[in-house]
Amino acid sequence: AIERTLSIIKPDAVAKNVIGQIYARFEAAGLKVIAARMAHLSRAEAEAFYAVHKARPFFKDLVDFMISGPVMIQVLEGKNAILKNRDLMGATDPKKADAGTIRADFADSIDANAVHGSDAAETAKEEISFFFAGMNVYSR
Ligand code: CMP
Repeated sequence: AIERTLSIIKPDAVAKNVIGQIYARFEAAGLKVIAARMAHLSRAEAEAFYAVHKARPFFKDLVDFMISGPVMIQVLEGKNAILKNRDLMGATDPKKADAGTIRADFADSIDANAVHGSDAAETAKEEISFFFAGMNVYSR
């Protein structure tokens, strides 16, 4: 099915100047950027976005990292976009990510892991509406 997923290029990858290289991987895999904006998230925004992880021991480090610099946020659309994007990203921990994945090639640690991608259809819907009003999404 044609799906949409929320993707974030995290502060480490933005600082490394590899937004274009990561976009090229999305495009080569048939994922289309249908909405995008750069933002330097506030602590409140990052905490709200990652609220599902609030009770986890890594929550504060995750939020601190996500507000350490600007991020590039996009909606990707395409066939099986959610799983396809997760395959492109590789495992959350870059040490466990398959060769050739975004995290294997660009990530440094489990926090500075280059990209975020929605993990399921329901979270994709929530994450897309968290960052984009419907009128800022440009499909076809
Ligand atoms: P992300 O896909 O953005 O979702 C939550 C983030 O928490 C994850 O990527 C990692 O960067 C970060 N994180 C840090 N430690 C862990 C952990 N032990 N398990 C899962 N995610 C972690």
